[in-house]
Amino acid sequence: MTYKDVYAEWKSNPEAFWMKAAEAIDWTKAPSKALSELGNDMFEWFADGETNTCYNCVDRHVEAGRGDQAAIIYDSPVTDTKQTITFAELQRDVAAFAGALKAKGIEKGDRVIIYMPMIPQTAVAMLACARLGAIHSVVFGGFAAHELAVRIDDAKPKAIIAASCGIEPGRVVEYKPLLDGAIDLAEHKPEFTVTYQRPQVQASLVEGRDYDWDSVQEGSEPTGCTPVEGNHPAYILYTSGTTGAPKGVVRHTGGHLVALNWTMKNIYNVNPGEVFWAASDVGWVVGHSYIVYGPLIHGNTTVLFEGKPIGTPDASTFWRIISEYDVKSFFTAPTAFRAVKRDDPKVELMKGHDISGLRAIYLAGERADPDTIEWAQRVTGKPIYDHWWQTETGWTIAGMPAGIEELPVKIGSPSVPMPGYDVQILDEAGHPMKAGELGAIAVKLPLPPGTLPTLWNAEDRFRKSYLQQFPGYYETGDAGMIDEDGYLYIMARTDDVINVAGHRLSTGAMEEVLAGHPDVAECAVVGVADSFKGQLPMGFVCLTTGVNRDHSEIAAECVKRVRDQIGPVAAFKLCTVVDRLPKTRSGKILRRTMASIADGQEFKMPATIDDPAILDEISDAVKTLGYPKA
Ligand code: COA
Ligand code: AMP
Repeated sequence: MTYKDVYAEWKSNPEAFWMKAAEAIDWTKAPSKALSELGNDMFEWFADGETNTCYNCVDRHVEAGRGDQAAIIYDSPVTDTKQTITFAELQRDVAAFAGALKAKGIEKGDRVIIYMPMIPQTAVAMLACARLGAIHSVVFGGFAAHELAVRIDDAKPKAIIAASCGIEPGRVVEYKPLLDGAIDLAEHKPEFTVTYQRPQVQASLVEGRDYDWDSVQEGSEPTGCTPVEGNHPAYILYTSGTTGAPKGVVRHTGGHLVALNWTMKNIYNVNPGEVFWAASDVGWVVGHSYIVYGPLIHGNTTVLFEGKPIGTPDASTFWRIISEYDVKSFFTAPTAFRAVKRDDPKVELMKGHDISGLRAIYLAGERADPDTIEWAQRVTGKPIYDHWWQTETGWTIAGMPAGIEELPVKIGSPSVPMPGYDVQILDEAGHPMKAGELGAIAVKLPLPPGTLPTLWNAEDRFRKSYLQQFPGYYETGDAGMIDEDGYLYIMARTDDVINVAGHRLSTGAMEEVLAGHPDVAECAVVGVADSFKGQLPMGFVCLTTGVNRDHSEIAAECVKRVRDQIGPVAAFKLCTVVDRLPKTRSGKILRRTMASIADGQEFKMPATIDDPAILDEISDAVKTLGYPKA
């Protein structure tokens, strides 16, 4: 079958298409139907089925005779560790840890926050929650205490599972002080915490509240899998929105299993037993879908890599891992390849690493610039497939269906919509646009299985954020176009979300932090282009009348504030004091115009600008930060 056949098969009968895909999942009670319409544009998938995510990821492979196959290969150049965990060993570890959580009172529906780095225990913790029907919410280690506290207050976890530290090149990040700080800041208090003590740091534990990973397991029995309904939340993952409050994307169990399993062969073109590697972090959606769940559901070996593409120890790391473990399909962010290209443009460090077993490289998380794709194609000799998706969807909206048919690659396009997604380009009034015309990218409802059914405890926000603008459609927040051949092009975000080194961040959240500085009266944060990280945040602050302090000191305090409150991952290092911000006559800050000035791009003078002279002041201010770049 060609891609066109498969897409048409889905379109003609989505119900039959997804029921067939659901046969690859083990259910304790098979679903009687795929889609449930709840009314008011709300949908759920496989709601009346019963299954367990952990069973599908682990136990069923052991029962099918794959117990000795590697489930997880942990490769950690930052700790000089390599470890292979078989499916049988993973089952033993997960059953034991789930038993310990159960003994401490964790049951189906309880929320558990996981604040851990890229170590196998993180996957064990996630799977243990899934085993019990508990709903995990993993928080990325690069977020600071305040961000963690916001998530604690929203998810209201009964327990938090952490590690004593994460390891960044050149520094050890102690997690426990951040966790303690977050619990102090949060109104909601977890009943208990569990900390995995890494050799690098022994975290101090509070008697009666904090337990050690090993000792909490003493005396408890390993436990089996609790069946849950298809529409039971498997996890909540917070992602950046327009405001400082992150959105809790909910993932339902049944659709998650069915959709991810489908993608492993049809998109990533791997067969059970083969090695798949997503070089991301479990704190992001890529880590959820393609370090932990997708490969394990499908019976693949997943590589859990604790390191960076460069500097741990050098730009040979990608090639070493691909060759050492015979990786068949590799997924990373374009920024990672930009890093390798910058350090080793002629890939001299590839010598001695045989990557001939690799079939293809998949890029996502941010726009893949043509230079990087062309370079990667040239030096690896492999197909480079850009694909476009979001935390909300959990899997590819548009990509290359390599396991069905390898279509021609068009550089600059993440290729074509996947079955399940009826992607359309709409004008401001919600009318479909013609091929080649630029507009808002929307997906006709219902979204396919595995995508978000709602936001955690925030159905109103879900509607406002995604369903309100274009009735009958899901608004992606991206703008772009579709060409005559049906290939999609992603051009820009339509909101205040920026993408820094493949990390999705909210400029609104940074503005809230800057506005909290006692000397700041008003501020704006915009995303400026960066040849390495894609975008970088740049802050402009106006001071409260009467403040007469050194501007560079205030700017430095603002930088520190964002690092302390949001975290180092915000990469907020560019900040300048200005007298005024450019606004429309109705008072809207002209952020896009400011970004164009910093990028050195031509822009159209906004017709409603209040005082055009302010733009010259902005132009002078960005020069002090070294912008526009030559
Ligand atoms: N815990 C604590 N701190 C973290 C962290 C974590 N898990 N992850 C990143 N940070 C810190 C970094 O140490 C850095 O701190 P610094 O300002 O003191 O140097 C800061 O956050 C910014 O990190 P990052 O943007 O990752 O920059 P980097 O220079 O350390 O690395 C890349 C650049 C390109 C190598 C890296 O961003 C990368 O590998 N990106 C791939 C993107 C990716 O996986 N995206 C997920 C979606 S596919
Ligand atoms: P996240 O939710 O962190 O995965 O970020 C999703 C957003 O990242 C999308 O809405 C896009 O703005 C951007 N993005 C992800 N993948 C791509 C891609 N392949 N091309 C362009 N932008 C992308």
